[in-house]
Amino acid sequence: MKKAFVTKEQVEEIVKSYPTPFHIYDEKGIRENARALKDAFSWNKGFREYFAVKATPNPFILKVLQSEGCGFDCSSYTELLLAEQVGANRMFAQLPQEGGTDAAQQRATGGNGHDIMFSSNATPDEDFKKAFELGAIINLDDFTHIDVLDKLTGIPETICCRYNPGGEFKTDGSPNVMDTPRDAKYGMTHEQIIEAYKILKSKGAKKFGMHAFLASNTLTNDYYPTLARIMFKAAVDIKEKAGVELSFINLSGGVGIPYRPDQPANDIKVIGEGVRKAYEEILVPAGMGEVAIFTELGRFMLAPFGMLIAKAIREKHIYKEYIGLDACAANLMRPAIYGAYHHITVLGKENAPCNHKYDVTGGLCENCDKFAVDRELPKIELGDYIAIHDTGAHGFSMGYNYNGKLRSAELLLREDGSVKLIRRAETPEDYFATFDFAEGKFEL
Ligand SMILES: Cc1ncc(COP(=O)(O)O)c(C=O)c1O
Repeated sequence: MKKAFVTKEQVEEIVKSYPTPFHIYDEKGIRENARALKDAFSWNKGFREYFAVKATPNPFILKVLQSEGCGFDCSSYTELLLAEQVGANRMFAQLPQEGGTDAAQQRATGGNGHDIMFSSNATPDEDFKKAFELGAIINLDDFTHIDVLDKLTGIPETICCRYNPGGEFKTDGSPNVMDTPRDAKYGMTHEQIIEAYKILKSKGAKKFGMHAFLASNTLTNDYYPTLARIMFKAAVDIKEKAGVELSFINLSGGVGIPYRPDQPANDIKVIGEGVRKAYEEILVPAGMGEVAIFTELGRFMLAPFGMLIAKAIREKHIYKEYIGLDACAANLMRPAIYGAYHHITVLGKENAPCNHKYDVTGGLCENCDKFAVDRELPKIELGDYIAIHDTGAHGFSMGYNYNGKLRSAELLLREDGSVKLIRRAETPEDYFATFDFAEGKFEL
């Protein structure tokens, strides 16, 4: 059973100030989850989560995570600006206390307040320069990027390389989790990465990290441990062949969440223990027991703690039964592009029998603009508020303006129950803001 974190009564109150549709985030849930992640990896002194900004690029959300000790993973110039805006590059400006977790993180990254990881690909020059200026840890996606970065900024003292082991990726515990890194555009081959570390060292780099992302939205406690084994073994080989000892290993994102109510949730404590076991079996005997573990999670950190709240505004009875919402795929694209399941609660009817079958749609001129197809739900009346679950990551951020649809507001449900507007809804003026002419002057 999935339970909405706001009630019909709360939404009726909220809409007096902020009309539907809107995304709303649950601060309490975000904080508790961030603490559970930290706790699961507390065995590793240098552990740090670098939240994947692309998942929920809102400065207020970043502030919440920052206050829980997270850094930020950025993938573009504007995401870097966002991290800069929340002061990410200044977080560890003061020297942390020796012996503490912060000190271990600092040791792993060479200090200088590396609160940003910059994991991009096909990276434009401007992005590299901005990342360098902010003291971000630059994660090189390709071997050829060494030269590019060297010419643009010089090689920073702390540097990271993205690894692609090729072949197929499978976890032992869950045969459903498979991917084919050899078909993925990301990262360097095993031979390339060894060569890369040698070159980076010769160019003055002093602290080295490795990053890999091999499968997305995994629903098994084995994903991170399996990935960790691959990376830890590679790290030992890199030590032997390149003479470079890694300071940190970034397991990146990919830990999933149960979008469907019948799916079992991952247990982050079990995941952390699985990584610890691999660490103790592979890294510690190789004399690498100081390596800091980083994560770069997006979905796991935010998805369950966001919902899209919309109103049923139209109904339609043709070959099927349709309910039309005031939200559309421009507000949440995942069902339209991936056929992704998002659970729906009709607020106020949580305990009513699900004895009506609907397609729940948005109003785009796209037949894929359906939040749910043939979904069994309670009878929906026009005016009912609909909570679409698990939209906190890769939800609002994937939004777009097709059909001239405007992006919604984002709200934060504070721990004390109050609601804060953290992004206003777009207006037609925002939609037209990129036309640089005076009103009505359209002459060619
Ligand atoms: C480089 C990188 N890191 C982290 C993430 C976050 O992934 P997730 O939200 O699946 O945890 C992504 C997602 O696309 C990514 O591309």
